Amino acid sequence: MKNETGMRQIKIFDTTLRDGEQAPGASLDVEQKIKLAHRLAALGVDTIEPGFPISSPGDFQAVQRISREIQGVEICGFARAVKADIDSAIRATRDAERRRLHMFLSSSNIHLDFQLKKTRAEVVSLAREMVSYAKQFVDEVEFSPMDATRTGDEFLFEVLEAVIEEGATILNIPDTVGFALPEEYGAMFTRVMKGVRGSDRVEFSAHCHNDLGMAVANSLAAIQAGVTHVEVTVNGVGERAGNCSLEELAMALATRGEHFGVKTNIRPEEIYATSQMVSRMMGSPIAFNKPIVGRNAFQHEAGIHQDGLLKNRNTYEIMDPERLGIPRSMIVLGKHSGRHALRHRVAEFGVELNNEQLEELYAAFKEKADRQKTVHDHELMQLAGQAVDRALE
Ligand code: KIV
Ligand code: ZN
Repeated sequence: MKNETGMRQIKIFDTTLRDGEQAPGASLDVEQKIKLAHRLAALGVDTIEPGFPISSPGDFQAVQRISREIQGVEICGFARAVKADIDSAIRATRDAERRRLHMFLSSSNIHLDFQLKKTRAEVVSLAREMVSYAKQFVDEVEFSPMDATRTGDEFLFEVLEAVIEEGATILNIPDTVGFALPEEYGAMFTRVMKGVRGSDRVEFSAHCHNDLGMAVANSLAAIQAGVTHVEVTVNGVGERAGNCSLEELAMALATRGEHFGVKTNIRPEEIYATSQMVSRMMGSPIAFNKPIVGRNAFQHEAGIHQDGLLKNRNTYEIMDPERLGIPRSMIVLGKHSGRHALRHRVAEFGVELNNEQLEELYAAFKEKADRQKTVHDHELMQLAGQAVDRALE
């Protein structure tokens, strides 16, 4: 549906606390999940999946407390196609202002043969039975055919048609193993939306893993094909190479909104603080070159780049880091830095250099920068002081 700006609204479903927490060593306790859920609400996500209630008493409690405490955001309980899982998710989310049940069941041959050990007929019948069971308790039922991108159309359509008939309202079609290419993933949604009976009665959702580094590109392709929900995690955390990164997707849509014709409710100014909190709590460092939130994402070392930036930041930046809640980038000074950047940086500390002093500083700086990777501000100011003295001699 288009909003008043003519842009289609994309709902951001955050699964940092469920799928994201499946990253090795990233587990969170109840209090941490509650703190993060408040942060995610401030960030503007539409849905939070806070955990897998049947998986542990702690996860049940986290989902229950988040359902009680967080207002204005839909809370989602996660379940296998198993009655006990559904009961647990329904109980845990009972007090939520708005809630959804997310049920998954594998659909690919390899999962059916080696994991579920069920025939296709058994899977369809179980999917029907469990969706119909869940619908007694909750209106919004999301169904995910796990490993959908390695399931042929014929069976995928059969499963999707069956769950639509039983009342599923959101069809999430996951690229569980991060195998799809963007054009394939987009085309799959196009075929499903056209070919699956009843598809006009449901909404579609993308869920991408990053094994080939294509989770964001695949999610964008799904948006172009018409999905209205996208499942993401902060910093792209998750099983193996992780999930579609919330901040990368949100900023791709914000920066290239005219291309996609869509918008989200994400508040960019909350991105950096949220990313830092997730990294800290999960003990999961952010790669220096990670887009949007990495340490180097807005840092510029090359002299030509620094010179351009000092004249107009748009020369080498396509986003304003301050808009993302990132303190205005400190240009990194290193052996590629030029005179202009040096003069500008020392001026920021209140020292104006004449040309002779600048030449002194430049020579000393290059020598130091050759020896060490970067030159810190305190070292630079020391060199600047010496340069001023030498120029007076
Ligand atoms: O990757 C996946 O398939 C999932 C689902 C269960 C949605 O996380
Ligand atoms: Zn997943």
